[in-house]
Amino acid sequence: MADLTTCCGPETQATCCAPAEKEACCGDGSCGCGASADVREQVRDRYAAAARTAQPGHVLSLGCGVPTAVADLHEGETVLDLGAGGGADVLISAGRVGPTGRAIGLDMTDEMLELARANAAAASVKNVEFVKGYIEDIPLPDGSVDVVISNCVINLSADKPKVLREAARVLRPGGRLAVSDVIADPDMDAATRANMAQWTGCIAGALTRGEFEAALTAAGLGEIEITETHRVHAHAGSAIIRARKPV
Ligand SMILES: C[S@@+](CC[C@H](N)C(=O)[O-])C[C@H]1O[C@@H](n2cnc3c(N)ncnc32)[C@H](O)[C@@H]1O
Repeated sequence: MADLTTCCGPETQATCCAPAEKEACCGDGSCGCGASADVREQVRDRYAAAARTAQPGHVLSLGCGVPTAVADLHEGETVLDLGAGGGADVLISAGRVGPTGRAIGLDMTDEMLELARANAAAASVKNVEFVKGYIEDIPLPDGSVDVVISNCVINLSADKPKVLREAARVLRPGGRLAVSDVIADPDMDAATRANMAQWTGCIAGALTRGEFEAALTAAGLGEIEITETHRVHAHAGSAIIRARKPV
């Protein structure tokens, strides 16, 4: 595994993942963006194992907040949940948008998708769909979603600027982003940053508030609000992050 402090740290990713920098920074595939496949596999292993231990019919929440509480969902809207896991927030969203709306859960882990579909069937919720794919490459058309939500997932990505660009792409003009995620303190220590278990546990990959704001702005989103709700680690807190795609 690459040294996450020097290669996959958020500051390095922010520049390394710019197209002009890729070749020099990631050419040998051993670090930076080139390491993202390795990060993904370790994340997938952890959450596949979690899904396998879940009780069928018991909706599993591995989130760090309640994005649906602040997403201000309305009847008829289309909601996309990035990294939907067992589907808890998708099922809540489906109820809020009603039969004329739709809630889509995106996840890369087969075991989670299977669990989420079983949970939706057990709850007899019809206006939901669970789609396999990566949050860095969302398999939906431009401007097709009213609201993007996510609960403790963006921090897990090795290319967070790309995730936010993809979220902005699929949002319609005026569409909203309402995400719960971990925000790192600027002084998060190098040992925590370099620890893969802390990465897959949603801590080590977290952006700082300033980095998150910068990445949202770079993705073309505005009206940015980041509010810490509670501490989850000595060097990190959970936050509600809201933004809007300009009309
Ligand atoms: C911490 S769990 C959160 C699940 C759910 N949001 C919840 O609140 O219970 C992370 C989920 O994101 C998925 N995930 C992580 N990285 C992903 C990626 N790059 N693309 C798609 N899904 C991803 C994992 O498979 C897992 O189901």
